[in-house]
Amino acid sequence: MKKDRILIIGAGGQIGAVLTEALRAVHGADSVVASDLRPLEGHDGPTEVLDALDANALAELVQSRHISQIYHLAAILSATGEKDPMRAWEINMRSLFNVLEVSRSLQLDKVYFPSSIAVFGREAAKQQTPQYEVLIPETVYGISKVAGENWANYYYRRYGVDVRSLRYPGIIGHESMPGGGTTDYAVDIYHYAVQGRDYECFLGPETSLPMLYMPDAIRATLQLMEAPADRLSARTSYNLAGMSFTPAEIAASISGELPGFRISYKPDFRQAIADSWPASIDDSAARNDWGWKPEFDLDAMTKDMLLHLREKYRTGVF
Ligand code: NAD
Ligand code: SER
Repeated sequence: MKKDRILIIGAGGQIGAVLTEALRAVHGADSVVASDLRPLEGHDGPTEVLDALDANALAELVQSRHISQIYHLAAILSATGEKDPMRAWEINMRSLFNVLEVSRSLQLDKVYFPSSIAVFGREAAKQQTPQYEVLIPETVYGISKVAGENWANYYYRRYGVDVRSLRYPGIIGHESMPGGGTTDYAVDIYHYAVQGRDYECFLGPETSLPMLYMPDAIRATLQLMEAPADRLSARTSYNLAGMSFTPAEIAASISGELPGFRISYKPDFRQAIADSWPASIDDSAARNDWGWKPEFDLDAMTKDMLLHLREKYRTGVF
């Protein structure tokens, strides 16, 4: 039987849940197998329980489901990773090795592996951080992403595995909740706002970070994966940008729609992580190589987030 199915690993997560639906809309529900550690509910296509640390289970699934592409989204994110660095390293690296090895040995067509702005550290340019910049990350998450990018590049150059990658900024969406990152505040704040609640932010008011609205993140991912291979100059990972804002600026954007909304600040350990990251990103390589262009700015995102979240809280359907 022809191998022509897509496997998503970590499909129950913030990005995986939305990416699964987007890929099913393009390729058909039956062509996209969604997997995670726990059973996935409410899917209109095939699902599997898979621990990406189990190389044999992964190889069996790839063969039995006739998989030709893997989107490997499973990871421990920046803030959770700092609570148990060795566990974060083990999960992030071993799962990636399992994916790269199965893709090499079973000759899969393409692999997607997201990296992050967390690859940068304090030595990197803070503004318009370039594509090729010094990478000295300060979290175990960032270290695992730098190592992962280099292994992706190695598998491409040495074995010809077509691995593609984006350095996502903080991703914001109404469809799903974030899973333990430093940028999570920018999702939580909208949930508080639509419920008429004040929000206490774990970052200070002037902390500017690169962010991207979910529809743009999904579009970028699909666009990169559809791009002709000979257009791709970066085989580590592409810088990707949408917008940059501070907690004070997102609060002002929300107050423009909901005048009673109030924010206060109580920075915790995540402040140091955020301070080590870029404030804005130069994504010209992505723009030049495969035509990347974001559509949402902060105010457009705020309007859309509030529209969707109001409806969810009104109907109780999440
Ligand atoms: P998330 O934490 O919301 O979801 C990760 C999913 O992976 C979870 O559903 C979890 O159950 C699953 N998982 C964890 N360990 C697993 C294992 N051993 N086997 C199988 N599944 C496992 O993460 P996310 O925000 O959706 O991020 C997806 C990817 O994008 C990650 O690689 C992350 O580093 C990257 N990324 C995310 C952001 C962001 O802002 N969300 C930004 C930059 C990069
Ligand atoms: N949003 C992610 C995090 O905060 C960035 O990779 O961990």
